Amino acid sequence: MRFTYVNTTQILFGKGQIGSVQSSISTQDKILVIYGGGSIKKNGVYDQIKESLKNHQWIEFSGVEANPTKETLDKAVEIVKQQNIDFILAVGGGSVIDGSKYVAAAAKYNGDGWDILTGDHQVSDATPLGAVLTLPATGSESNSGAVITKAATQAKLSFMSPYVQPKFAVMDPDVMKTLPEKQLINGIVDAWVHVCEQYLTISHGAMVQDGYAETLLRTLKTLGENFEQRDTDEWRENLMWAANQALNGLIGSGVPQDWATHLIGHELTALWGVDHARSLAIVQPSLLRNQLSLKRSKLEQMGVNVFGLKPSENLAEKTIDAIERFYHTMQVSTQLTEHGDNKQEAIDAVIAQLKQHGMNALGEHQAITLEASRQILTEAIA
Ligand code: NZQ
Ligand code: ZN
Repeated sequence: MRFTYVNTTQILFGKGQIGSVQSSISTQDKILVIYGGGSIKKNGVYDQIKESLKNHQWIEFSGVEANPTKETLDKAVEIVKQQNIDFILAVGGGSVIDGSKYVAAAAKYNGDGWDILTGDHQVSDATPLGAVLTLPATGSESNSGAVITKAATQAKLSFMSPYVQPKFAVMDPDVMKTLPEKQLINGIVDAWVHVCEQYLTISHGAMVQDGYAETLLRTLKTLGENFEQRDTDEWRENLMWAANQALNGLIGSGVPQDWATHLIGHELTALWGVDHARSLAIVQPSLLRNQLSLKRSKLEQMGVNVFGLKPSENLAEKTIDAIERFYHTMQVSTQLTEHGDNKQEAIDAVIAQLKQHGMNALGEHQAITLEASRQILTEAIA
């Protein structure tokens, strides 16, 4: 183990914390509030922000879509540049927060912001930002990553930079009250796969990372099993905190990571608009079966410590079945059906995108070649 770890985001967790925005941003700063399609106007979050910012100077930018596009966000980049914005407040789910990170970084760059996603521009400055989370799932509120889509080419790519790490994250579980059931389930699945990407690799003996990952997985499993309790404070608090901890950098420190499920899943979202979490449930079981020989010992550990399975010769296989059953009990499909009726064309389209984006060797062993991805997709696409 050799790593550097820091998480500089101040977490403001609990009921009523939206009011803390007031003291978290200087009244000298000119603020751009960025939000999505309007859910915050219906559930009172917008009014709370307005109240909290009554002594600040602020303007707003709305309309950031789920799976945010460069095309939409570039309009906000122009506003930040022209209006000399000092601080960005992102109010929404992962899409709004990711989108705001792109805006923050692109506003300090004179070229095309997409260069940040292709790696042609290395971020070296960004407008400071804070987040008010309305959908627990991605962990974006306290990490340095963002995933952005270029609609023109159906490319969904990510970037990471410490410059876009939010200064603070307001996490008031009450905002979850208006989330559709589908989004609550997406939150469980996305957070679950985030833990798996950092845990289901090789046996490395890092007991703290493994142990905490297993705690998070057991928590998420319990929340899924107790879905009928979703209208309680306790259920909401546990999901919001678990989803945050799943991708704030801690459990992945000093251990190998996978991320192949995400990278293949992103292509399904880019091509067919599949919800992010649902793209993961489609890819992951087939990917784990494909990589079984490399992941066997960790799957066995998960089977015992997360699912309470008894040691047996085919324990790893049973663990993958249990993961798949977990998705099915939440009515989450593990097969793609959104592609129409030409399976071969769909597989070819995903492979072409992966190739285009340089995804030729994925996973902790770089063992997921395009040929392996093709085998995985053959199982994952209906
Ligand atoms: O746009 P509005 O009207 O706000 O509606 C949103 C949106 O339609 C709605 N919503 C959010 N909060 C709500 C609410 N509706 C009612 N009540 C509330 N309190 O939910 C819909 C989905 O929102 P979105 O932000 O798209 O969902 P999510 O948080 O799952 O974010 C997904 C995006 O995050 C990226 C994904 O690729 C995807 O683009 N990811 C970001 C990561 C990161 N930065 O670390 C990691 C993840 O793996 C992921 O890739
Ligand atoms: Zn994810």
